[in-house]
Amino acid sequence: MTKMTKLKAISGVTAALLASGGGAAWAQGAPAGDAANGAKLNSMCIGCHGIVGYKTAFPEVYSVPKIGGQHAAYIVKALQAYKSGERKHPSMVGVAASLSDKDMADLAAYYSAGPGKVASK
Ligand code: HEC
Repeated sequence: MTKMTKLKAISGVTAALLASGGGAAWAQGAPAGDAANGAKLNSMCIGCHGIVGYKTAFPEVYSVPKIGGQHAAYIVKALQAYKSGERKHPSMVGVAASLSDKDMADLAAYYSAGPGKVASK
């Protein structure tokens, strides 16, 4: 499978999930993350991805995608792709390299909960 078709397949699934209004099918397969721990790990991400639900980085330098409210399985997949080198953005490759599978699941649980759903400690 080429990179492009893979990307298309992923966005197709995302669109289908959005259309059906939920991610039940994926949620079952996704590792269970600890959102409270994700909130702590989030200090590594906040400088670029901003407050959950916001897009605060400098768009004239690089448009940082909004990840607050993103589906957990998508976030884990994206982080694994940076770690494996399948995705190549240098900042994210550097960040993802230091994350364990559990870290990724925890961060995904935190971000997918969306703004205001996880108390920040
Ligand atoms: C140095 C700045 C920086 C830091 C720190 C950073 N990111 Fe990113 N992140 C980016 C940029 C820039 C992109 C877009 C890269 C691309 O186009 O592939 C991105 C992309 C992503 C994506 C993919 C989003 C999508 O829509 O495909 C995820 C998920 C993500 N980051 C999660 C995180 C998490 C979780 C952390 C903390 C552990 C983090 N990032 C820390 C800059 C950063």
